[in-house]
Amino acid sequence: TSPSSHQNSQSDRRVRDPDIGRNGLQSYTLKPSDNFILKLHDQSDGGKKVEMILQKPLDREKEETVSLLLTAVDGGEPQRSGTMLIHITVLDANDNAPVFTQSIYKASIKENAVNGTLITQVSATDADKGSNGEVSYVIGNRRRSYSNLFKITQEGKILLNGPVDYEKLQIYEIDIEATDQGGLSDSSKVVIELNDVNDNSPIIRLISKTDTILESSPSDTVVAVMNVNDPDSQENGKVNCVINKNIPFAISSSAN
Ligand SMILES: *[C@@H]1O[C@H](CO)[C@@H](O)[C@H](O)[C@H]1NC(C)=O
Repeated sequence: TSPSSHQNSQSDRRVRDPDIGRNGLQSYTLKPSDNFILKLHDQSDGGKKVEMILQKPLDREKEETVSLLLTAVDGGEPQRSGTMLIHITVLDANDNAPVFTQSIYKASIKENAVNGTLITQVSATDADKGSNGEVSYVIGNRRRSYSNLFKITQEGKILLNGPVDYEKLQIYEIDIEATDQGGLSDSSKVVIELNDVNDNSPIIRLISKTDTILESSPSDTVVAVMNVNDPDSQENGKVNCVINKNIPFAISSSAN
């Protein structure tokens, strides 16, 4: 008689062979044997109870279903065997944290960009399934006064949320966090560089002036000193001073 197996539970199987002695049950094999091993228990009725024991952790992200072939052979001549196919579905556990596609994201916007402007989009992926793999985003360092000037959507879009000013700060750094529904997280950083816009006019400040001047004053006598300044950067901040042409005064620039 061939050994026959019937299932008791997922991991507890009872195999019987009505023959006795050498012709009775001899051995079992399980293939593949990557994750499970077999453990045998003799039963009082001569049968053997087989336990399938997990030896090496399963990983749903690599293998979502496992198919195993359990074979029982007897010691008879000819040797007879019984087989059973075992299908195992591996359920997801939240064993993967979200991972940002970059450890730092860089972007630039004009300092006069309007509220709501899309600055950049970030993304984190999570290998888990369902809610274990659902990622939500938040801006981390709310302690920084300026972090309220930016917001992040559930799609990872970084939006401008208030006025920025190149003349106050040129580079903003915000920490972002991606968290899955099971609480695992990753963090990254967004560096936003502002581009200057010519939004400031030059300012003339009179430092000293002479209200009267001797008619015999020599040429190049200083009659007034002023300071001209434009807070914009580079070309936008360069100032060119001119004075009426048909008057007996000229303007000259001094270092600093
Ligand atoms: C920018 O727009 C958001 C709504 O999208 C609003 O809540 C926020 O107060 C606005 N900020 C400014 C400075 O207008």
